This record gives sequence, C-alpha cells and structure tokens, in this order.
Amino acid sequence: MALPTEIVNGVLEALYAAQLALRDAWHALGLSGTVAQQPAWPFAQRLAAERLLQEPGHARRVIATLACIAAAAALVLTALLLAVLRRRSARRWPLALAAGAAALLAFAPWPSAMLLWAPAVPTSLHRAPQAFSAQSIVQGQAVFTQHCAQCHGADARGEGPLASQLSRWPPNLAGGLLWKRLEGELFWRVRHGLRDARSGTQTMPGAPALSDAQIWSVLDFLQARASGQMLRDMGAWERPVRLPQSLLDCRYGGRRSSDSLRGQRLQLVLAAGDAAAPPEDPRWVTVVLGASGGAAAQAAPECLSRDPALLPALALLLGVAPGQAAGHRLFVDRDGWLRARCRGRRPGRRAT
Ligand code: HEC
Repeated sequence: MALPTEIVNGVLEALYAAQLALRDAWHALGLSGTVAQQPAWPFAQRLAAERLLQEPGHARRVIATLACIAAAAALVLTALLLAVLRRRSARRWPLALAAGAAALLAFAPWPSAMLLWAPAVPTSLHRAPQAFSAQSIVQGQAVFTQHCAQCHGADARGEGPLASQLSRWPPNLAGGLLWKRLEGELFWRVRHGLRDARSGTQTMPGAPALSDAQIWSVLDFLQARASGQMLRDMGAWERPVRLPQSLLDCRYGGRRSSDSLRGQRLQLVLAAGDAAAPPEDPRWVTVVLGASGGAAAQAAPECLSRDPALLPALALLLGVAPGQAAGHRLFVDRDGWLRARCRGRRPGRRAT
C-alpha cells in the first residue's frame, strides 16, 4: 500500500526545514560561508529525503521509525516528569515507561542507513530566489539555446549536433529526470559541470560565465519544457506544475501579479484571433491572453494579460509550438497549480 502523498510531502518538507534550520544556524555562527547568495550547506552528506518519494517501502520504514522515536520521546518525557514530581503512587511508572521507550526503539523498523544519506554540494538546499515566471522561462530558453542546445538539442531531449562526439550521451532533460533531482544540485551541476565518478574526466563543461539568475532561469525553462513533454506523453500533468507568474490587468485591482489571485480558481483563455471570449463563469476568474484587438479584449474580461512572455511560456507547458497555443484553455486551482487544459469551449471535451 502506498502512503498518501500528503504524508510523504509533509515529511519531505519537515526534513527539508530541519536541514535548512541547521544550515542557517551553522551560517549564523560564522562556521560556513555564502554561495550563490544563500548560506552554503556545510557537510559532505545530506538527508536523501527525495528517496521517500521514489521508494515507497523505504518511505514506510522511515515514517514508522519516526513515529516510534516520537512515541519513545513522549514516554521518556513523561517518565522524567513523574520522577521529578515523585508521586508515591507513581514510583514504579518511570522505569516502566523508560522500558517501553527502549522497546519501541528496539522494535522500530529502522531503514537502511545507506538510503538515508546522499552526497551533498554547497548548494544542495538552495531554492530559486526568483518566482517561476513567464519571463524567467523565456529568458531561460534563450540561455539554453545559446549555451546548452549544441549538446542537449533545442528541445532538450539530448540530441544536439555535438552529442555524438561527446564521451557520454547527454540525458533527455525533457523526461522525468528533473523531478528526481534537487533544484539546488541541478544549479551546482550546471554551474560546475559534471565528471565521471570513476575516472574523474569531465563529461559536461561548467558554465562559469552565466549569472546565478541565468542558471535559475534555464532551470525554469527546463521545468516548463519537461512539463509540456509530460503532458504530451501522458495526457496529463502528472507532477505538480505551477502557472508561471506574470502581470495581469484586472477589472478589480488594476495591474497585479497573477500570484495575487491565489485562493481563486482561474480559467486562462488563450484567445484565438477574433474568436469571441468564452462567457464568464462564476466558478473561475477568467484571464484572457493575447487578444489585443480581438473580440475577447473588447468584451473586457475580468483579467487580461499583455505579458509577451506568457504565451511562449504556456506553449512550452502545453508541449506545443507557440503558434499552436491559441485556442487552448487552462484551468488553475486555488493554490496556483495547473490542473487541466482543453481546446475549445468546455473542459474535458475535445481535449487535445
Ligand atoms: C559539451 C556538451 C554539453 C553542454 C554545452 C551542456 N551539457 Fe549538460 N550534459 C552534457 C552531458 C554529456 C551530460 C551527462 C553527464 C553525465 O551524466 O556525466 C549532461 C548532463 C546535464 C544535466 C543532468 C544532470 C544530472 O543531474 O544528471 C543537466 C541538468 C544539464 N546537463 C544541463 C545543462 C545546461 C542547463 C547546459 C547549458 C547551460 C548544459 N547542460 C550544457 C553535455 C553538455
């Protein structure tokens, strides 16, 4: 039986937060420096929390063991409390409780230590300081075309013109690989390149000339590109994919960031030429994109996007060429995740 994703994600976030607190405390004590504008992770290892997602059996063991540790800690605390209070009637309880705690720890299904740790780099815990935005995706695509496509291919599937001359074939970055990595470690690999673990020879050159922001952008582009490919291959965004942040002009609230609409569901209409905008629907805030002179704009939708980066960014997320994105509608949930898309008037019908 697989554990509910919410539990696994909750544990992942808690483990991440605990390591972040340790990293920041270390930094505050002056024991570690700063790398790429964030405190460096000071150790050669880190908790391999992402394995919880990849290996359900391991995840079950970790969570059961954590529960045992928490219960044992509660027993020990109670024992201490009773010992301090020195209630006569409770004289034997502290010992019994401590024995219970020891038994819990002894019988906990301890996970394999090897699976708990992974090699770390100074940016392992880094997260992109900038929002996942339409502009960042489009800028990242330009960086990718200039610096990476010769090996990885313009579509990031690993078939660039130089690929066959390399000692190792570049991986398909439009597949599931990105979701198996920490973004901070991808950042490090793009910045410093990759080496063969055994021989130490370089398999991918680093990119010392790129700014930190350019590397985060290129990772945003790759994320969008891989999400679009996933939609093409599976027919759905099977991993969580965010609506990229962009600027909107709204009937209420004027010019605002799309992130400020969190808490409401959105339908995003990529207007096709002069086609009439779909009627407003009380279930969603309607955002119309790309109808500068068309009927959709004249109908004064609730929100209008004039951000030139949004259409190419959404085309990547849809896995289509920018010219084919018009006519799609996308549905965004209250937390800003893309949920569904369709071509035409109603979700679910005539889905592409
Ligand atoms: C000279 C060819 C070349 C160039 C240029 C290049 N790469 Fe790579 N890249 C590779 C090869 C080969 C690998 C596989 C290396 C390995 O597994 O040891 C790779 C691996 C990767 C990976 C996977 C890392 C992982 O965690 O497994 C990412 C991400 C990546 N490249 C991104 C980029 C980006 C972004 C750029 C541009 C800034 C870029 N690469 C430029 C050849 C290249």
